[in-house]
Amino acid sequence: MHIRPRRNRKNSVIRDMIQESQLGVQNLIYPLFLEDGKGIKTEIASLPNNYRWSIDLLIPEIESCIALGIRTFVLFPAVKDELKDTTGSYSYSDANFYLHAIRKIKETFPEIVLMSDVALDPYSSDGHDGVVKDGVILNDETLPILSKMSIAQAQAGIDIIGPSDMMDGRVGTIREDLDAAGYTDVSIISYTAKYASAFYGPFRDALDSAPKSGDKKTYQMNPANKREALIEAQLDMEEGADMLMVKPATCYLDIIHLLKESCDVPITAYNVSGEYAMIHAAAQKGWLDYESAFMEMLLSIRRAGADGILTYFAKDFARL
Ligand code: PBG
Repeated sequence: MHIRPRRNRKNSVIRDMIQESQLGVQNLIYPLFLEDGKGIKTEIASLPNNYRWSIDLLIPEIESCIALGIRTFVLFPAVKDELKDTTGSYSYSDANFYLHAIRKIKETFPEIVLMSDVALDPYSSDGHDGVVKDGVILNDETLPILSKMSIAQAQAGIDIIGPSDMMDGRVGTIREDLDAAGYTDVSIISYTAKYASAFYGPFRDALDSAPKSGDKKTYQMNPANKREALIEAQLDMEEGADMLMVKPATCYLDIIHLLKESCDVPITAYNVSGEYAMIHAAAQKGWLDYESAFMEMLLSIRRAGADGILTYFAKDFARL
Protein backbone atom coordinates (compact mmCIF):
# COMPACT_ATOMS: atom_id res chain seq x y z
CA MET A 1 0.00 0.00 0.00
CA HIS A 2 1.51 3.32 -0.83
CA ILE A 3 -1.68 5.19 0.01
CA ARG A 4 -2.51 4.96 3.69
CA PRO A 5 -5.16 7.54 4.71
CA ARG A 6 -4.41 6.84 8.38
CA ARG A 7 -1.08 8.74 8.07
CA ASN A 8 -3.16 11.95 7.93
CA ARG A 9 -4.78 11.04 11.24
CA LYS A 10 -1.70 9.90 13.15
CA ASN A 11 -1.62 12.75 15.69
CA SER A 12 -3.70 15.69 16.76
CA VAL A 13 -1.39 18.31 15.24
CA ILE A 14 -1.84 16.81 11.79
CA ARG A 15 -5.55 16.20 12.36
CA ASP A 16 -6.06 19.82 13.45
CA MET A 17 -3.98 21.19 10.54
CA ILE A 18 -6.20 19.58 7.91
CA GLN A 19 -9.56 19.82 9.64
CA GLU A 20 -11.98 21.06 6.98
CA SER A 21 -14.88 22.47 9.02
CA GLN A 22 -14.31 24.79 11.96
CA LEU A 23 -16.77 25.93 14.57
CA GLY A 24 -16.35 29.02 16.68
CA VAL A 25 -18.56 30.88 19.10
CA GLN A 26 -18.88 33.61 16.43
CA ASN A 27 -20.97 31.17 14.37
CA LEU A 28 -23.55 30.65 17.10
CA ILE A 29 -26.84 32.38 17.89
CA TYR A 30 -28.19 31.69 21.39
CA PRO A 31 -31.99 31.43 21.90
CA LEU A 32 -33.42 32.98 25.07
CA PHE A 33 -36.97 32.89 26.45
CA LEU A 34 -38.58 35.88 28.04
CA GLU A 35 -41.57 36.20 30.36
CA ASP A 36 -43.24 39.32 31.78
CA GLY A 37 -42.59 40.10 35.43
CA LYS A 38 -39.73 40.41 37.93
CA GLY A 39 -37.35 37.97 39.57
CA ILE A 40 -38.40 35.09 37.29
CA LYS A 41 -36.05 32.27 36.29
CA THR A 42 -38.15 29.19 35.56
CA GLU A 43 -36.44 26.15 34.13
CA ILE A 44 -38.14 24.63 31.09
CA ALA A 45 -38.64 20.96 31.99
CA SER A 46 -38.03 19.59 28.49
CA LEU A 47 -35.09 21.96 27.84
CA PRO A 48 -32.71 21.43 30.78
CA ASN A 49 -30.60 24.51 31.71
CA ASN A 50 -32.86 26.77 29.66
CA TYR A 51 -35.11 29.19 31.46
CA ARG A 52 -37.94 31.60 31.00
CA TRP A 53 -36.45 34.83 32.30
CA SER A 54 -37.92 38.14 33.35
CA ILE A 55 -35.95 41.05 31.92
CA ASP A 56 -34.27 42.02 35.24
CA LEU A 57 -32.62 38.57 35.47
CA LEU A 58 -32.10 38.23 31.72
CA ILE A 59 -29.77 41.24 31.63
CA PRO A 60 -27.11 39.64 33.90
CA GLU A 61 -27.58 36.35 32.03
CA ILE A 62 -26.81 38.07 28.71
CA GLU A 63 -23.82 39.72 30.38
CA SER A 64 -22.44 36.32 31.38
CA CYS A 65 -22.94 35.04 27.83
CA ILE A 66 -21.10 38.06 26.41
CA ALA A 67 -18.23 37.33 28.81
CA LEU A 68 -18.04 33.87 27.22
CA GLY A 69 -17.87 35.38 23.73
CA ILE A 70 -21.49 34.96 22.58
CA ARG A 71 -22.51 38.02 20.59
CA THR A 72 -25.75 37.08 18.84
CA PHE A 73 -29.02 36.19 20.54
CA VAL A 74 -32.55 35.34 19.46
CA LEU A 75 -35.35 36.23 21.83
CA PHE A 76 -38.74 34.48 22.21
CA PRO A 77 -41.68 35.76 24.31
CA ALA A 78 -43.88 33.58 26.55
CA VAL A 79 -47.19 35.46 26.60
CA LYS A 80 -49.94 35.08 29.20
CA ASP A 81 -53.12 33.42 27.90
CA GLU A 82 -55.32 36.41 28.70
CA LEU A 83 -53.25 38.59 26.33
CA LYS A 84 -53.67 36.21 23.39
CA ASP A 85 -56.36 36.77 20.77
CA THR A 86 -57.21 35.48 17.31
CA THR A 87 -55.14 38.14 15.52
CA GLY A 88 -52.15 38.32 17.88
CA SER A 89 -52.72 42.04 18.43
CA TYR A 90 -50.57 42.16 21.59
CA SER A 91 -47.53 41.48 19.38
CA TYR A 92 -47.40 45.09 18.20
CA SER A 93 -49.08 46.76 21.17
CA ASP A 94 -47.10 49.51 22.96
CA ALA A 95 -47.66 47.52 26.15
CA ASN A 96 -45.88 44.40 24.83
CA PHE A 97 -43.17 43.47 27.38
CA TYR A 98 -41.17 41.80 24.59
CA LEU A 99 -40.72 45.15 22.81
CA HIS A 100 -39.72 46.85 26.07
CA ALA A 101 -37.20 44.09 26.68
CA ILE A 102 -35.66 44.49 23.21
CA ARG A 103 -35.22 48.20 23.91
CA LYS A 104 -33.68 47.55 27.32
CA ILE A 105 -31.28 44.89 26.03
CA LYS A 106 -30.08 47.04 23.10
CA GLU A 107 -29.64 50.05 25.42
CA THR A 108 -27.61 47.96 27.86
CA PHE A 109 -25.58 46.05 25.28
CA PRO A 110 -25.45 48.08 22.05
CA GLU A 111 -22.61 45.87 20.77
CA ILE A 112 -24.63 42.64 20.55
CA VAL A 113 -26.80 41.51 17.65
CA LEU A 114 -30.37 40.75 18.62
CA MET A 115 -32.71 38.70 16.47
CA SER A 116 -36.47 38.39 16.92
CA ASP A 117 -39.09 35.85 16.02
CA VAL A 118 -41.95 36.97 13.80
CA ALA A 119 -45.03 34.73 13.75
CA LEU A 120 -48.42 34.82 15.43
CA ASP A 121 -48.11 31.66 17.53
CA PRO A 122 -46.86 33.06 20.87
CA TYR A 123 -49.64 35.68 20.72
CA SER A 124 -52.43 33.67 19.11
CA SER A 125 -55.29 32.10 21.06
CA ASP A 126 -55.31 29.44 18.30
CA GLY A 127 -51.60 28.66 18.69
CA HIS A 128 -51.04 28.96 14.94
CA ASP A 129 -48.50 31.11 13.09
CA GLY A 130 -51.23 32.80 11.05
CA VAL A 131 -54.84 33.92 11.47
CA VAL A 132 -57.25 30.97 11.61
CA LYS A 133 -60.75 31.02 10.16
CA ASP A 134 -62.95 27.90 10.14
CA GLY A 135 -59.88 25.75 10.59
CA VAL A 136 -58.00 27.37 7.68
CA ILE A 137 -54.77 29.36 8.19
CA LEU A 138 -55.29 32.56 6.18
CA ASN A 139 -52.18 33.67 4.31
CA ASP A 140 -52.83 37.17 2.97
CA GLU A 141 -54.77 38.28 6.05
CA THR A 142 -51.74 37.34 8.18
CA LEU A 143 -49.18 39.37 6.21
CA PRO A 144 -50.12 42.87 7.49
CA ILE A 145 -49.96 41.60 11.08
CA LEU A 146 -46.45 40.20 10.51
CA SER A 147 -45.48 43.59 9.10
CA LYS A 148 -46.85 45.50 12.09
CA MET A 149 -45.01 43.13 14.42
CA SER A 150 -41.77 43.62 12.47
CA ILE A 151 -42.05 47.42 12.47
CA ALA A 152 -42.76 47.45 16.21
CA GLN A 153 -39.64 45.32 16.78
CA ALA A 154 -37.58 47.56 14.50
CA GLN A 155 -38.78 50.61 16.47
CA ALA A 156 -37.63 48.85 19.64
CA GLY A 157 -34.15 48.44 18.16
CA ILE A 158 -34.00 44.85 16.85
CA ASP A 159 -31.09 44.10 14.50
CA ILE A 160 -32.51 41.10 12.65
CA ILE A 161 -36.12 40.12 11.99
CA GLY A 162 -36.72 36.36 11.89
CA PRO A 163 -40.00 35.50 10.17
CA SER A 164 -40.74 31.90 11.27
CA ASP A 165 -44.35 31.73 10.08
CA MET A 166 -43.97 30.23 6.56
CA MET A 167 -46.73 32.38 5.04
CA ASP A 168 -46.21 32.99 1.30
CA GLY A 169 -44.94 36.47 0.46
CA ARG A 170 -44.06 37.47 3.99
CA VAL A 171 -40.43 38.38 3.38
CA GLY A 172 -41.37 40.77 0.55
CA THR A 173 -44.19 42.37 2.53
CA ILE A 174 -42.04 42.82 5.64
CA ARG A 175 -39.08 44.18 3.62
CA GLU A 176 -41.26 46.71 1.79
CA ASP A 177 -42.98 47.90 4.96
CA LEU A 178 -39.74 48.10 6.97
CA ASP A 179 -38.17 50.18 4.19
CA ALA A 180 -41.20 52.45 3.92
CA ALA A 181 -40.97 53.04 7.69
CA GLY A 182 -37.28 53.96 7.36
CA TYR A 183 -35.79 50.71 8.71
CA THR A 184 -33.64 49.89 5.70
CA ASP A 185 -30.81 48.69 7.97
CA VAL A 186 -32.85 46.04 9.77
CA SER A 187 -31.92 42.60 8.39
CA ILE A 188 -34.15 39.64 7.63
CA ILE A 189 -33.09 36.04 8.29
CA SER A 190 -35.92 34.11 6.74
CA TYR A 191 -36.97 30.71 8.08
CA THR A 192 -36.87 29.49 4.48
CA ALA A 193 -37.09 25.71 4.71
CA LYS A 194 -38.99 25.19 7.91
CA TYR A 195 -40.33 21.69 8.17
CA ALA A 196 -43.46 20.45 9.98
CA SER A 197 -41.32 18.69 12.56
CA ALA A 198 -41.85 16.68 15.73
CA PHE A 199 -38.64 18.22 17.07
CA TYR A 200 -40.28 21.52 18.12
CA GLY A 201 -42.02 19.84 21.08
CA PRO A 202 -39.90 21.28 23.93
CA PHE A 203 -40.06 24.78 22.42
CA ARG A 204 -43.87 24.66 22.38
CA ASP A 205 -43.74 23.59 26.04
CA ALA A 206 -41.48 26.56 26.79
CA LEU A 207 -43.91 29.05 25.27
CA ASP A 208 -47.14 27.12 25.75
CA SER A 209 -47.65 27.78 22.03
CA ALA A 210 -48.79 24.43 20.61
CA PRO A 211 -51.69 24.66 18.12
CA LYS A 212 -55.05 24.36 19.88
CA SER A 213 -56.35 22.29 16.98
CA GLY A 214 -54.91 20.77 13.83
CA ASP A 215 -51.23 20.87 12.92
CA LYS A 216 -48.91 23.17 10.94
CA LYS A 217 -48.72 21.02 7.81
CA THR A 218 -50.54 23.47 5.53
CA TYR A 219 -47.72 25.99 5.96
CA GLN A 220 -44.60 24.22 7.25
CA MET A 221 -42.90 21.90 4.76
CA ASN A 222 -43.30 18.16 4.36
CA PRO A 223 -40.21 16.40 5.81
CA ALA A 224 -40.17 14.13 2.74
CA ASN A 225 -39.51 17.04 0.36
CA LYS A 226 -36.28 18.56 -0.85
CA ARG A 227 -36.89 20.37 -4.17
CA GLU A 228 -39.58 22.53 -2.57
CA ALA A 229 -36.82 24.08 -0.44
CA LEU A 230 -35.36 25.55 -3.65
CA ILE A 231 -38.65 27.29 -4.48
CA GLU A 232 -38.82 28.75 -0.97
CA ALA A 233 -35.17 29.85 -1.19
CA GLN A 234 -35.65 31.46 -4.61
CA LEU A 235 -38.68 33.41 -3.39
CA ASP A 236 -37.04 34.55 -0.17
CA MET A 237 -33.98 35.82 -2.02
CA GLU A 238 -36.11 37.64 -4.61
CA GLU A 239 -38.18 39.14 -1.79
CA GLY A 240 -35.09 40.49 -0.05
CA ALA A 241 -33.99 38.00 2.62
CA ASP A 242 -30.41 38.71 3.75
CA MET A 243 -29.86 35.14 4.98
CA LEU A 244 -31.79 31.91 4.70
CA MET A 245 -32.47 29.35 7.41
CA VAL A 246 -33.06 25.61 7.42
CA LYS A 247 -34.95 24.18 10.38
CA PRO A 248 -34.51 21.70 12.08
CA ALA A 249 -30.83 21.09 11.38
CA THR A 250 -29.59 17.52 11.82
CA CYS A 251 -32.43 15.64 10.10
CA TYR A 252 -32.09 18.18 7.27
CA LEU A 253 -28.35 18.32 6.59
CA ASP A 254 -29.04 17.55 2.93
CA ILE A 255 -31.23 20.66 2.71
CA ILE A 256 -28.52 22.81 4.30
CA HIS A 257 -26.05 21.44 1.76
CA LEU A 258 -28.47 22.01 -1.13
CA LEU A 259 -29.14 25.65 -0.21
CA LYS A 260 -25.44 26.30 0.40
CA GLU A 261 -24.66 25.04 -3.11
CA SER A 262 -27.57 26.80 -4.83
CA CYS A 263 -27.81 30.18 -3.08
CA ASP A 264 -25.38 33.04 -2.84
CA VAL A 265 -26.56 34.36 0.52
CA PRO A 266 -25.38 33.09 3.94
CA ILE A 267 -27.14 29.97 5.21
CA THR A 268 -28.12 29.48 8.83
CA ALA A 269 -29.56 26.40 10.52
CA TYR A 270 -31.76 26.09 13.59
CA ASN A 271 -30.58 23.26 15.82
CA VAL A 272 -34.01 23.03 17.46
CA SER A 273 -35.26 22.22 20.93
CA GLY A 274 -35.91 18.52 20.24
CA GLU A 275 -32.36 18.01 19.00
CA TYR A 276 -31.05 19.54 22.23
CA ALA A 277 -33.47 17.57 24.41
CA MET A 278 -32.52 14.23 22.84
CA ILE A 279 -28.83 14.63 23.62
CA HIS A 280 -29.56 15.83 27.15
CA ALA A 281 -31.91 12.93 27.87
CA ALA A 282 -29.44 10.34 26.55
CA ALA A 283 -26.56 11.95 28.47
CA GLN A 284 -28.61 11.96 31.68
CA LYS A 285 -29.09 8.24 31.29
CA GLY A 286 -25.37 7.83 30.72
CA TRP A 287 -25.98 6.58 27.18
CA LEU A 288 -24.05 9.37 25.42
CA ASP A 289 -21.21 11.66 26.37
CA TYR A 290 -22.84 15.11 26.44
CA GLU A 291 -19.93 17.25 25.28
CA SER A 292 -18.61 15.08 22.50
CA ALA A 293 -22.14 14.38 21.24
CA PHE A 294 -23.17 18.03 20.93
CA MET A 295 -19.79 19.01 19.47
CA GLU A 296 -20.21 16.38 16.77
CA MET A 297 -23.76 17.52 16.11
CA LEU A 298 -22.77 21.19 15.71
CA LEU A 299 -19.77 20.34 13.56
CA SER A 300 -21.93 18.22 11.25
CA ILE A 301 -24.20 21.23 10.71
CA ARG A 302 -21.18 23.34 9.77
CA ARG A 303 -19.85 20.58 7.51
CA ALA A 304 -23.20 20.49 5.69
CA GLY A 305 -22.72 24.18 4.91
CA ALA A 306 -24.31 26.30 7.62
CA ASP A 307 -22.59 29.62 8.25
CA GLY A 308 -24.53 30.41 11.41
CA ILE A 309 -26.25 28.03 13.85
CA LEU A 310 -29.05 28.87 16.26
CA THR A 311 -28.50 26.48 19.12
CA TYR A 312 -29.34 25.92 22.78
CA PHE A 313 -25.83 24.44 23.08
CA ALA A 314 -24.24 27.88 22.49
CA LYS A 315 -23.46 28.59 26.13
CA ASP A 316 -22.03 25.14 26.84
CA PHE A 317 -19.97 25.38 23.66
CA ALA A 318 -18.66 28.82 24.66
CA ARG A 319 -17.77 27.55 28.14
CA LEU A 320 -15.61 24.82 26.62
C1 PBG B 1 -42.76 29.50 15.99
C2 PBG B 1 -41.44 28.86 16.19
C3 PBG B 1 -41.22 27.52 16.52
C4 PBG B 1 -39.86 27.38 16.76
C5 PBG B 1 -39.27 28.63 16.52
N1 PBG B 1 -40.26 29.54 16.15
C6 PBG B 1 -42.19 26.42 16.76
C7 PBG B 1 -43.21 26.07 15.76
O1 PBG B 1 -43.14 26.40 14.59
O2 PBG B 1 -44.17 25.43 16.18
C8 PBG B 1 -39.22 26.11 17.21
C9 PBG B 1 -37.83 26.21 17.75
C10 PBG B 1 -37.36 25.02 18.51
O3 PBG B 1 -37.99 23.95 18.54
O4 PBG B 1 -36.30 25.15 19.13
N2 PBG B 1 -43.09 30.16 14.90
